[in-house]
Amino acid sequence: MPAISATAPGKVILFGEHAVVYGQPAIAAPVAQVRARAVIMAEPRFPAGSLRIQAPDIGVETWFADLPEDDPLGVAIKQVLAKIGIEDPPALTVRVTSSIPVAAGLGSGAAVSIAVIRALAGFLGRRLRDEEVCSLAFEVEKIHHGTPSGIDNTVIAYARPVYFKRKQDGNLIEMFPVASPFTLAIGDTGVRAPTLNTVGDVRAAWLADPERVGSFFEQIGALVRSARQAIESGAIESLGSLMNKNHALLAELDVSSIELERLVAAARQAGALGAKLSGGGRGGNMIALVSAETVEPVCQALRAAGASNTIVTTIQ
Ligand code: PMV
Repeated sequence: MPAISATAPGKVILFGEHAVVYGQPAIAAPVAQVRARAVIMAEPRFPAGSLRIQAPDIGVETWFADLPEDDPLGVAIKQVLAKIGIEDPPALTVRVTSSIPVAAGLGSGAAVSIAVIRALAGFLGRRLRDEEVCSLAFEVEKIHHGTPSGIDNTVIAYARPVYFKRKQDGNLIEMFPVASPFTLAIGDTGVRAPTLNTVGDVRAAWLADPERVGSFFEQIGALVRSARQAIESGAIESLGSLMNKNHALLAELDVSSIELERLVAAARQAGALGAKLSGGGRGGNMIALVSAETVEPVCQALRAAGASNTIVTTIQ
């Protein structure tokens, strides 16, 4: 049987992180420049039912049966087997590689899950629909994030910009037109900050002062709605100030950091139309809205201000 592979992109949250956990809308877009990849290979020499896991980037080589109950890769595999109704899979190797930095707000966990889900389902003869992939990956996200909104697995499963709203009776997922493509410079602080921690801290702050923190969520929601209108109508220049306002509210939620502030300030000084942290915060990546003229100076300024990496991506 030939090897089957699948890849999944990274993602950035353009607007609305954290507030999205509390029912406000958010906008996210795929980042094709970084990807997770899963390859499934038949292993006719292994005893039936042996599943080997290889993740060379993180030095993992083990058997599925030896993975802890709550291992994200193990849960992704179990989800696929249950979905397809296979109890005794053929012996195989699942090999995972990824160029998406871990715990950096670029969706590495969801991208790895989605690549594995698609590749394994394909190997077992099933082509899953995007919404099926999305909901299986959501089960894995719960391990990474505790109370995930579902936006990461959604934008990566559909691999298109999405307007997302968490709802009890089925999330609102809308694909919307991008009237004029726009470019982002993404700067990595190099600081790894698990989303589970920042999401937990925001929850504690909200429980302690629901009125004040709830009002930040509502203000963020209003910015997201304006941002969608701006993107749909091609009013790109107004997106920059919306990004700056969203960043200020995230700083109020205490999910920024010295390193993020440094990169955001450097990008703005170098001519970005706006900049904000992206994802869980306290580290990870920030995004800056740039033009053809400012893209290079902004990337240089980000590196000079300590960015460990920069990525340029166009949202379209
Ligand atoms: O995976 P990250 O770091 O991009 O964070 C996801 C965005 C949050 O809103 C902070 C959490 C969530 O589940 O939506």
